[in-house]
Amino acid sequence: MNIQENISLLPFNTFGIDKNARFFAQAKSTDEVKYLIRKSEEMHLPLFVLGGGSNILLTKNLEALVLKMEIKGFELIGENEKEIFLKVGAGESWHDFVMYCIQNNWAGVENLSLIPGTVGASPMQNIGAYGVEIKEVFDHLEAVDRDTLEIKNFSSEECRFGYRESVFKNDLKERYVITHVVFHLSKAPVINAEYGAIKQTLIEKGIESPTIKDISDAVIDIRRSKLPDPARIGNAGSFFKNPTVPVPIFEKIKSAYPNVPGFSNEEGIKIPAAWLIEQAGWKGKRFENIGVHQLQPLVLVNYGGGEGNEIKELSSKIQESVQKKFNVVLQPEVNFL
Ligand code: EPU
Repeated sequence: MNIQENISLLPFNTFGIDKNARFFAQAKSTDEVKYLIRKSEEMHLPLFVLGGGSNILLTKNLEALVLKMEIKGFELIGENEKEIFLKVGAGESWHDFVMYCIQNNWAGVENLSLIPGTVGASPMQNIGAYGVEIKEVFDHLEAVDRDTLEIKNFSSEECRFGYRESVFKNDLKERYVITHVVFHLSKAPVINAEYGAIKQTLIEKGIESPTIKDISDAVIDIRRSKLPDPARIGNAGSFFKNPTVPVPIFEKIKSAYPNVPGFSNEEGIKIPAAWLIEQAGWKGKRFENIGVHQLQPLVLVNYGGGEGNEIKELSSKIQESVQKKFNVVLQPEVNFL
């Protein structure tokens, strides 16, 4: 296997930050993953698994062996009357996987069109958008135990999915390398067009009985109209999670801001972080090479040449001002390295 030294990670992170990996190698199979786990131990360096680099903020060079996940492939491993079971390599692009499903008329992931990143990273934070989370189509995943090199299967329950959460971000952080994900997809389309923006887009297009392709096209239109394309402006999607606050805190905010949006869940009321950031005056603010996106303030951007530390500082200032104004703590969704 080819292990390269001092490689720039600029092409491998969607924020477009120019930091190096001490060592860098691409893993195209489970055996190569195992080899690199052992190699990192011999080198006395941490192993860092990189997918699409769409949820990381590089603040320094990585003194690590970076494993770029490149396990590819789609394999139909089972089916019944209603569903098919598809095993997908962790290194496949998430959007290519979604397109593959749409071409085959397998439903379930069309609302998740155009999300950057890889299939292997998708369960890490239970990616979600426009009313759907991957836990709804997830069957199980295969991962290599970094200690024993054994393969372990994780059911949906074992992954302990939550809002942008899983066991792999918490108790089992850095314990497993995900190599494959198995999804169950529906043979008959189950259309989920409840999300306001999707409904609106379908009306504008005059579509009354949407196909999964129509839903995917609508989601792509919405994302393109609101979110910056990482190929043009560096970003990692939502920088913060949407916070859920206790009802009394929400009521207090509402008495001062009667139009505050809020969505109830089991733990309280979820407030869009975009709204809080906009009210705190950050929307569209630019500071030389970095800034807050002008259409979606939940997205921090690197216009080119920005440093990870500058973005980190900006995110701290946003957190402080939102906390001061609303008594709400914003948690980053992006991983700082
Ligand atoms: N809003 C504002 N100002 C703005 C934009 C939005 O106040 O400039 C408020 C509005 O009240 C709006 C609400 O925010 O109704 C929600 O906005 P949007 O539908 O754009 O969704 P979001 O909550 O900001 C979440 C996900 C996105 C996902 C969208 C669509 C998180 C952290 N983010 O954003 O995910 O695409 O919903 O479902 O949950 C990502 O994780 O990287 C990501 C882009």
